[in-house]
Amino acid sequence: MKARIVYASMTGNDEDIAEILEEDLQDAGFDVTTSDISFTDPSDYLTSDLCVLVTYTYGEGVMTDELKDFYDGLAKLDLTNQPFAVMGSGDRVYGTAYCQNVFDFEKLFKQLGAVEVIAPVTVDQSPDQAAIARIDAAAESISRKLHE
Ligand SMILES: Cc1cc2nc3c(=O)[nH]c(=O)nc-3n(C[C@H](O)[C@H](O)[C@H](O)COP(=O)(O)O)c2cc1C
Repeated sequence: MKARIVYASMTGNDEDIAEILEEDLQDAGFDVTTSDISFTDPSDYLTSDLCVLVTYTYGEGVMTDELKDFYDGLAKLDLTNQPFAVMGSGDRVYGTAYCQNVFDFEKLFKQLGAVEVIAPVTVDQSPDQAAIARIDAAAESISRKLHE
């Protein structure tokens, strides 16, 4: 089963999340491809059995150019029945904009007909042991659902 993880990361926190998830999914038997959002065409999701987006949020939720470009390309796709999951890092000091872009992508995937396999995983800054445990649990849950 093929999984595609696309991540957006400026200071490395979301790249770390993507790497943890990649390892977990590989251990669960997935054939995983992980790529930086700036070097990924959204249509790469079309050939995957699982689409994952891992993103930061900067600027009180306003998307950076690299996020917006990917978002606009993704919005043109038909992802009917495609399993997806979103996760990402943010900072709670931003209040209602906490991990806003994670939820923006969740909403878009749903609009495109994709099926959410786990609730969004949000992480405060860099993943600590507790966050790693939540990512591990999310991967287990994804694997269970997709192998049902
Ligand atoms: C200028 C600036 C704006 C930010 N805006 C938000 C925000 O609106 N919401 C949020 O949850 N986190 C916000 N953050 C926190 C980052 O999302 C957080 O540090 C994240 O871990 C960065 O991920 P990265 O290391 O993958 O780039 C902001 C950080 C900076 C420096």
